[in-house]
Amino acid sequence: MKGIVLAGGRGTRLYPMTLAASKQILPLYDKPMVYYPLSVLLLAGIRDILIISTPEDLPSYRRLLGDGQRLGVRFSYCVQERPAGLAQAFLLAKSFLDSSPVCLILGDNFFYGANLSLMLGQAAEQNPGATIFGYPVKDPGEFGVVEFAPDGTVLSLEEKPARPRSNFAVPGLYFYDGDVVSIAEGIEPSPRGELEITAVNERYRRLGRLRAERMGRGMAWLDTGTPQGMLSAAQYVEAMQSRQGMYIACLEEIAWRRGFITLDQLRQLGRELEMTDYGQYILALAEETDEHR
Ligand code: G1P
Repeated sequence: MKGIVLAGGRGTRLYPMTLAASKQILPLYDKPMVYYPLSVLLLAGIRDILIISTPEDLPSYRRLLGDGQRLGVRFSYCVQERPAGLAQAFLLAKSFLDSSPVCLILGDNFFYGANLSLMLGQAAEQNPGATIFGYPVKDPGEFGVVEFAPDGTVLSLEEKPARPRSNFAVPGLYFYDGDVVSIAEGIEPSPRGELEITAVNERYRRLGRLRAERMGRGMAWLDTGTPQGMLSAAQYVEAMQSRQGMYIACLEEIAWRRGFITLDQLRQLGRELEMTDYGQYILALAEETDEHR
């Protein structure tokens, strides 16, 4: 399975913060925001990842992430000249995907929870078809909304409905089989002129190939789209990390735990950042493991 991180958009809700910097590169506590969705892809075992952003911002992502070799993964890059909706990602990624199944994650979506890895692993294995998620929120009308039948099948999907049929929002994390490009090629722009991801999901639903999993209590899906949301998410990361002493979205740690890099490579990555707590955390991981060998 391949991965796509969509890190486009102008981030207008965060002006003036995003006048000269890409939203998904802004810090969320101690790391760039894009580390969090990248960590989700790595946790799902995905090592071949395409990053899509604007012509102005793509160079920043290249500078931040490089070719991925240091993490034992492969990062590729693709320019989105003009944002035309989330489903445009599949059209842009056609040759990258080459009919492979894919997980798309939005570059500003934050997920954390005890059973996240399990959920990701299951979604990545469910083929053919598509898997989306439903997450209970107070204000579903701001999102894609999924309505479940009592047996868990999807009754309806709507994009930002005025009168939501349920309180389950659809987070920006989607798994698709190799047909997603041709399905995306077949959809028309919505009244707001966008190729909606909800339209792609609706196609899968009509074909009887859409699954929706509920994310329940204990799973954090946080909004980073406003200054207040960014602050709350940063405080959440700070609280969890300082309480448990375990980092959220430390890409080096995940790459090592998943076997993408060796212990020696992990130690080297820690040394490169040893002037920060982040680097010290990586070094401590390498030391502890060495002692227990
Ligand atoms: C997009 C999708 C929406 C989804 C949301 C998740 O909305 O269109 O279905 O619920 O992402 O973050 P946007 O906030 O990009 O308008």
